[in-house]
Amino acid sequence: MKGELTMIKNGLLVSLFAFAYSMSMGADCSFDLKGTDVMTYTDASGAPVTQINVPASCSEFTINLTHAGKMPKAAMGHNVVIAKESDVKDVAKAGVKSGVAKGYLPENDARVIAATKLIGGGEKTSVKVPVAKIKAGGYDFFCSYPGHEIKMRGKLIVK
Ligand code: CO
Repeated sequence: MKGELTMIKNGLLVSLFAFAYSMSMGADCSFDLKGTDVMTYTDASGAPVTQINVPASCSEFTINLTHAGKMPKAAMGHNVVIAKESDVKDVAKAGVKSGVAKGYLPENDARVIAATKLIGGGEKTSVKVPVAKIKAGGYDFFCSYPGHEIKMRGKLIVK
């Protein structure tokens, strides 16, 4: 009985240290996003994602995108583009003109804060977002494949 209690006590101590260690490591500066064959962004559990919270303590925030579908990028391509909410429509429009080879994104466009490449089913990509650039708020993430921004769009909230 006494041995058991000691074991429980040690177990508690270990989890307490693990917790303290994870706290000292700081906030999670990344998010795993999925793209689907039905033109949606979801989280790992399959729930729709319309907002990503970015801890203000991160200097860089990584968005990992996995295309969980099977369709090729020419038919159901996905990317993650960061732009000011008021620029999203215009950036998407300019992206259509760039075509699939350029990932449906205008080249060297200052309105694009950060962007992944365009991927198809089974592929993965990621992008590092400089948090200082989006700290002021009013930034969205979206897919610049023609027409996708209507459903594949959400807010980046720094807090
Ligand atoms: Co898309």
